[in-house]
Amino acid sequence: MIIGIIGSGAMGAGIAQVVATAGHTVRLLDQNRQALDRAGKSIQGSLDKLTEKGKLTAEKSADIFGRLHLTQDIGAFNDCELVLEAIVEDLAVKQQLFREVEMLVPDTCILASNTSSLSIASIAAACQKPERFIGIHFFNPAPVMQLVEVIPAVQTRVGLAEEVRDLVQSWGKQPVLTKDTPGFIVNRVARPFYGEAIRILEEGIADMATIDWALTELGGFRMGPFTLMDFIGHDVNYRVTESVFTAFFFDPRFKPSFTQKRLFEAGYYGRKSGRGFYNYAEGAVPPEP
Ligand code: NAI
Repeated sequence: MIIGIIGSGAMGAGIAQVVATAGHTVRLLDQNRQALDRAGKSIQGSLDKLTEKGKLTAEKSADIFGRLHLTQDIGAFNDCELVLEAIVEDLAVKQQLFREVEMLVPDTCILASNTSSLSIASIAAACQKPERFIGIHFFNPAPVMQLVEVIPAVQTRVGLAEEVRDLVQSWGKQPVLTKDTPGFIVNRVARPFYGEAIRILEEGIADMATIDWALTELGGFRMGPFTLMDFIGHDVNYRVTESVFTAFFFDPRFKPSFTQKRLFEAGYYGRKSGRGFYNYAEGAVPPEP
């Protein structure tokens, strides 16, 4: 299968690695040349690590990388059988992208979004053939995380969700079918998790490091909420919170916080920008409580 992936950031690069490893030819596109180069390097680095650990032979790693084609030319998508986008979490931008994509790809090509929170129905509505549209939501980092949410829209043709579920399973992932509601399963549960952690901080009940420490060391979570938000990126995470809050008709359970909004506005996106809740630029990894 030939798969086109648009957006070569954290998610697009990871998804490209997953599907190339599963044997598909991958066309990975980004509007930003540097992002594309970074993605190529990060995928190569990730394959090298797996080879060093003996989980992949050098030959297999070269085959996987050989199936990956980095491009800035959307015209290269004219033979794709599935196109999945992982660009900015902005409805209008995603809709515009699919209007362009649909003019190029074959009629049978499946169209999919990796959106964390936006309505699949509203992205599909921008398409001429919304019945071929579906949500395929990976988790970060995509090569490691097992779960993938598969989200049919009201317009999605009967049977496509099951086809996509089987396809995702063939990539070695654990798909779960979910309804097209804001944040689906995981990001809906995660909103109050992050929101409550920020409120605990704002109310002066405990500092970030203590909250992160308590949740990981005592609570059994793999990452504390502040470390996790910094890992996801506040540009992504703030937009997702705002989108889920709005989509739930301003339900206060999902209300964003000014603390996070200010990080977003300042460009303090977390690990990717060197500073978020924690300061990574100075090598200051999350402090011990
Ligand atoms: P990112 O900021 O790392 O990467 C986005 C990439 O898309 C950038 O390289 C940017 O240059 C490119 N881009 C933006 N607009 C474009 C356009 N019109 N055409 C081509 N390329 C374009 O973002 P990330 O974290 O990879 O997130 C991407 C999507 O995946 C978002 O919808 C996000 O909600 C979703 N997502 C993010 C997760 C996370 O933990 N970061 C987890 C699961 C889903």
